[in-house]
Amino acid sequence: MYGIIGGSGLTNLPELLTKNNVSIETPYGSPSGPILIGLLDGAEVAFLPRHGPGHTIAPHSINYRANIWALREAGVDEIVSVASVGGIRSDLGPETIMLPDQLIDYTWGRLSTYVQDDAPVTHVDMTEPYSSDLRKKIVDAAERVGERIIVGGVYAATQGPRLETAAEINRLDRDGADVVGMTGMPEAALARELGIPYATIGVVVNHAAGRGDSRTRIRMEDLEAALGRAIQRVQRILRELTRA
Ligand code: HPA
Repeated sequence: MYGIIGGSGLTNLPELLTKNNVSIETPYGSPSGPILIGLLDGAEVAFLPRHGPGHTIAPHSINYRANIWALREAGVDEIVSVASVGGIRSDLGPETIMLPDQLIDYTWGRLSTYVQDDAPVTHVDMTEPYSSDLRKKIVDAAERVGERIIVGGVYAATQGPRLETAAEINRLDRDGADVVGMTGMPEAALARELGIPYATIGVVVNHAAGRGDSRTRIRMEDLEAALGRAIQRVQRILRELTRA
């Protein structure tokens, strides 16, 4: 069963015929909310809004460990995460949908592993942070419904909740990042630790700080408007993906 983690702008899946609203407690605490299990175009999916049902949990306060654990408990064996991002690369402007293939982690202070102090130490391979099989399925689904997506790109995960300075974005650019968001890590690493294929659909909602029309400031209203428009296209891709 697919698990969908919804980010900002995707706190519910309107077409999901919810059968079950499952509250799962984990050894790591509570996830962001109940997991909604239901049918999306006839296919069973589990949905979890990352920021909580009322969008009240900030990126640095999300219990990522509980979220991934709870999705696995619910029977999820592949996770598609939807995340809004700022575009660093000039061709990644608002309303672009992209599929990152690499990741750089700039977050700090987040509980980011299931490896416990008193257990044998393990190191997961993160050379390819996203599942190539799952990415291909998303690309194919997008193609079938005629939605254009940019395939590939480096996602920089920043701590937030504030946006970046222009100089910070220049640094991320020098590091090779194409988009910037606040929730991509430790989600990807935790899914890998549990052996769950994971991929992210990035929804560009603004030019990153100092770039394009964000040269002097980023306006929240513009960001929300771009998100509202693009998220409907993401939902079409998700429906097609899970139906197949
Ligand atoms: N920076 C970090 N996270 C984001 C941005 C951004 O510009 N836009 C959406 N999420």
